[in-house]
Amino acid sequence: MLEVRELSHSYGAKEVLHDIDLNVKEGQILAVMGSSGGGKTTLLKCMSGLLVPTRGEVLVDGISVRKQPELARMSLGLVFQYAALFDYLNVRENILFGVERRRRLSAREKDDIVAEMLAAVSLDESVATQMPDSLSGGMRKRVGLARALAMQPKVLLYDEPTSGLDPITAFSIDRLIVDTRDRLGVTSIVVSHDVNSVFRVADRVAFLDAGRLAFVGSRDEFETARVSGIDELVEKARAKNFSYIVREIPDQK
Ligand SMILES: Nc1ncnc2c1ncn2[C@@H]1O[C@H](COP(=O)(O)OP(=O)(O)OP(=O)(O)O)[C@@H](O)[C@H]1O
Ligand SMILES: [Mg+2]
Repeated sequence: MLEVRELSHSYGAKEVLHDIDLNVKEGQILAVMGSSGGGKTTLLKCMSGLLVPTRGEVLVDGISVRKQPELARMSLGLVFQYAALFDYLNVRENILFGVERRRRLSAREKDDIVAEMLAAVSLDESVATQMPDSLSGGMRKRVGLARALAMQPKVLLYDEPTSGLDPITAFSIDRLIVDTRDRLGVTSIVVSHDVNSVFRVADRVAFLDAGRLAFVGSRDEFETARVSGIDELVEKARAKNFSYIVREIPDQK
């Protein structure tokens, strides 16, 4: 469904991604982990077409993001790290922002989309008229996902969806990522530095080390991988005994 082929990217003379090959199957959730500055966000930007890689290709359902950006982007939804909502628009207008630019909608269609998307991310309909700055961090992330879902993407790209959230809200966002995949079958790429979150949501894990793909495998393989950087991450998660690799997401909103 999503394929990254021999991708490298440099900012000026500085190479931040080196020869990355990745394949994500339809409906799978791939987590991308790695050290800070390792190139995770850059990889996500290349996948989404926001950035044209220096070398290599990204294919979505066989369509090249470089050669047919408009067509490829129809299948891609991006959920930004800080939700990136338009602060001057209310929640309803934020959700409709992209869809309205894609096609003309009747008032009735707009109402339906907003109601459906709010329900999809478990937010009350009354939230529609609120402004982003009156929402909690978790609610903003939900609205960011609702906006992406309104475009009916086949692939969702999440940049650090749980960063800056308290553990309970982080659980609820993890659950939402898994539920969204289960319900809609969307292929999902989740950039995260939170091992616990990764163990809860990911089918497969990729690990970037200084721009190179040091590991790709199932989450069980990841847990026992003897790859520098990964073992420390897993150890650290174990040491924080509150949340040692909780595979079940508590049933809570
Ligand atoms: N627009 C840019 N111009 C120049 N250098 C950049 C640019 N964006 C990122 N970089 C550099 O590229 C490297 C990779 O950045 P990137 O943001 O992809 O890493 P990351 O893995 O997402 O890091 P973090 O965990 O901090 O989010 C870093 O050294 C960063 O400073
Ligand atoms: Mg980043």
